Amino acid sequence: MKSQMRILCFLLHLLLVLFLASQTVLSWKKDEFRNCNQTPFCKRARSRKPGACSLIAHDVAISDGHLTAKLLPKTLPELDQGLEDQIKPLILTLSIYQDGIMRLKIDEDLSLEPPKRRFQVPDVIIPDFENKKLWLQRVSTETIDGDAGPSSVVYLSDEYEAVLRHDPFEVYVREKKSNDRRVVSLNSHQLFDFEQLRPKKEGDDWEERFRGHTDTRPYGPQSISFDVSFYGADFVSGIPEHATSLALRPTRGPGVDYSEPYRLFNLDVFEYLHDSPFGLYGSIPFMIAHGKTGKSSGFFWLNAAEMQIDVLGDGWDAESGISLPSGQKRIDTFWMSEAGIVDAFFFLGPGPKDVVSQYTSVTGKPSMPQLFATAYHQCRWNYRDEEDVENVDSKFDEHDIPYDVLWLDIEHTDGKRYFTWDPVLFPHPEDMQKKLAVKGRHMVTIVDPHVKRDESFRLHKQATEKGYYVKDASGNDYEGWCWPGSSSYLDMLNPEIRSWWGDKFSYKEYVGSTPTLYIWNDMNEPSVFNGPEVTMPRDILHYGGIEHRELHNSYGYFFHMATSDGLLKRGDGKSRPFVLSRAFYAGSQRYGAVWTGDNTADWDQLRVSVPMILTLGLTGMSFSGADVGGFFGNPEPELLVRWYQLGAYYPFFRAHAHLDTKRREPWLFGYIFSTSQIS
Ligand code: NOJ
Repeated sequence: MKSQMRILCFLLHLLLVLFLASQTVLSWKKDEFRNCNQTPFCKRARSRKPGACSLIAHDVAISDGHLTAKLLPKTLPELDQGLEDQIKPLILTLSIYQDGIMRLKIDEDLSLEPPKRRFQVPDVIIPDFENKKLWLQRVSTETIDGDAGPSSVVYLSDEYEAVLRHDPFEVYVREKKSNDRRVVSLNSHQLFDFEQLRPKKEGDDWEERFRGHTDTRPYGPQSISFDVSFYGADFVSGIPEHATSLALRPTRGPGVDYSEPYRLFNLDVFEYLHDSPFGLYGSIPFMIAHGKTGKSSGFFWLNAAEMQIDVLGDGWDAESGISLPSGQKRIDTFWMSEAGIVDAFFFLGPGPKDVVSQYTSVTGKPSMPQLFATAYHQCRWNYRDEEDVENVDSKFDEHDIPYDVLWLDIEHTDGKRYFTWDPVLFPHPEDMQKKLAVKGRHMVTIVDPHVKRDESFRLHKQATEKGYYVKDASGNDYEGWCWPGSSSYLDMLNPEIRSWWGDKFSYKEYVGSTPTLYIWNDMNEPSVFNGPEVTMPRDILHYGGIEHRELHNSYGYFFHMATSDGLLKRGDGKSRPFVLSRAFYAGSQRYGAVWTGDNTADWDQLRVSVPMILTLGLTGMSFSGADVGGFFGNPEPELLVRWYQLGAYYPFFRAHAHLDTKRREPWLFGYIFSTSQIS
């Protein structure tokens, strides 16, 4: 009896240990990052009820070829001293572009001198786009569907019209031929909210705290949220990067799978889950909707602050009392951002290809990859030394396995000082590259954005002297912890710094580099090991006094841009760059490839790589891939084989593995490759 009890106790104990172990693995990641409830702007926005927005469009007019209006609350509070501050109008500008594109901007009234100009993301919209603007000449006024007030209607294309309903304010696109058929709309559920900047009053506590970090938030609440509806849609896709399905599952409403919104906040997430709305390394706030009718539409919000997006499931608004005029099938979504302005683009398709092409007419077409870059890449953290490189290279020939590019991770540098080579392990970098080059092969080295704070490191010395680092709230160079230890981060928002950075890739400055050497930008979310959520604090300051919170999702994009421009300069503009980046934003397709970061060697991660890469393709990032074999862990032979079979169809095809994994170059699995078990 006693021994039975002991066995039972042991089994219970074992079960408890196993349960706790599984919980720590799952919850460890969760706790490191904020959820919507721990993110005040998200919590506030999500608690708003349909019908909460009482803004009305006033002074609707055509000006400079745009439709403009002022948005003011329906019921103005009794004006007493100081309250005028709170009822400043918002300025709405609606513009039309060729090929079925409508743009809506909403910002504070700058003539009333708000405490600060809100951030508008520069250098994402390609210059050519402005040439496509159609100059609006005329606006007609209608009373639609028994509305109390009028609506202003303008030309959009031969098939569509744009409508601004005044009371309550709503913007939508409708078909001309049956004008009760809508395509896409904003604020139909009156969830729009725009927290205007205001001076701090006594008693205001604007600070936010998370896991021992304090965000000083000197400018206070400044978030924006609104609903967007896609008509005739059966599903929506896009808004990477999440490890989830291609058709985005609802996050709000009865019986949903996910309780968190899709988060867009570039983060270095350790061992990410294979099925989650959690934000990963890159953010593209572009959603594409598609219906069984074959029609598609799209929506892009140019805003680089943290964003959270709900896909609203059927019945989410059952109690709202708002019924939309047309009986069309519809998908509603809810968009929230911590800062910035509304600068939104609506794409009318009608086909999915048209929507993608409309989106890339705003943010740019993908750059044409070099031929070699579309072939197979061999990477691992790390190839140890020149001899290891030579061995791996010759084994590919011995086994007659084609490959075009060999990669070197951070250990090739002299103490994680990028642009340098470990003098013992890689004493002859040029010869090493030339040996690959004679066989038509290329090399890629890693260059991350954190700069080692080391007085003897020339790059750091120059950056410090020139004042090129981002600054903390007291104006000092911000110091964070990354691979090299204490590091500072270049302010990539500043075009002068980007140009200086680009010059570092010249053959003269990057000693040991040759024309067949290309670049890998990693950790550019940016990853800061001791920062809040493993990234940079939001109150860090950039060029022009911009707070990091306002541009966070675009930091990696500017870094990728600077590197890619640097490689162009290096080759006098004659040879196309190849730069792989982990972080990305809308427009990154112009600068090179991306990959899905630190996945794991398991079957679920193999599966989710497919919708992740397809989603990237739909949002302009056509050159993307996932680590073949899985970054963490050791794949069983069949998983590795299947991953190669799939990876051959990834646009960017690279095997990669963590420092602690077993070596896994393809010939090491010779036994299974040569059997007929794998068909
Ligand atoms: C993180 C990257 O995602 C991974 O691919 C790389 O090997 C390590 N950093 C080390 O550089």
